[in-house]
Amino acid sequence: MNVAINWPETPLKTAGNPENKARPGMEKALLKTLGKMTYGIYILTTSYKEEVNGMVASWVSQISYDPPMVMVAIHPNRYSHHLIAQSGCFALHLLARNQAHLIEHFKGPDPETKFASTPWIRGKTGCPVLTSCLGYMECEVKASYRPGNHTLFVGEITDAQAFSEGQPLSTFDYTGVYLGKE
Ligand SMILES: Cc1cc2nc3c(=O)[nH]c(=O)nc-3n(C[C@H](O)[C@H](O)[C@H](O)COP(=O)(O)O)c2cc1C
Repeated sequence: MNVAINWPETPLKTAGNPENKARPGMEKALLKTLGKMTYGIYILTTSYKEEVNGMVASWVSQISYDPPMVMVAIHPNRYSHHLIAQSGCFALHLLARNQAHLIEHFKGPDPETKFASTPWIRGKTGCPVLTSCLGYMECEVKASYRPGNHTLFVGEITDAQAFSEGQPLSTFDYTGVYLGKE
């Protein structure tokens, strides 16, 4: 897919920092290259006490088979970040390629809009489980790191279900780019 992208004209925030090892002047090439990296596009949900929330997340990876573990990179500005930090749990949902419309609902700030758009139940951890997705994993946070402007939450998978067959949604199905600037 050929996508026209308006790259930000402002340099990386850290580019003027003498401690930053980035080569001066590489911002444009870097952003263009990062923007071509391919990811799955997931809905991450979380809850703390009665509160629930969900967000779109693409900086996600499996990091262990035994025990089964995944890692998500979440910006501290996200409300979900606050809830994961409080509760120590999150659920990751794989969407089908024909569920790209859910990105629009879950990339905004309003939990009511998010959860009105799709059926859900409470999972074992208390996190919302979206029952119309391809499948999900519930995770308990085992570690967190802050190497850059996102927090890496390492989650051990404590429950998982596959609801249906289908091709998973990825950045090939989305015309925007998540650069993670803020
Ligand atoms: C395709 C896509 C991928 C995204 N990936 C991430 C991600 O990996 N980490 C992150 O912190 N935000 C990511 N976001 C941004 C959040 O989904 C967005 O800021 C959301 O409104 C956060 O909701 P919250 O503040 O209610 O938690 C992504 C957005 C889109 C559209």
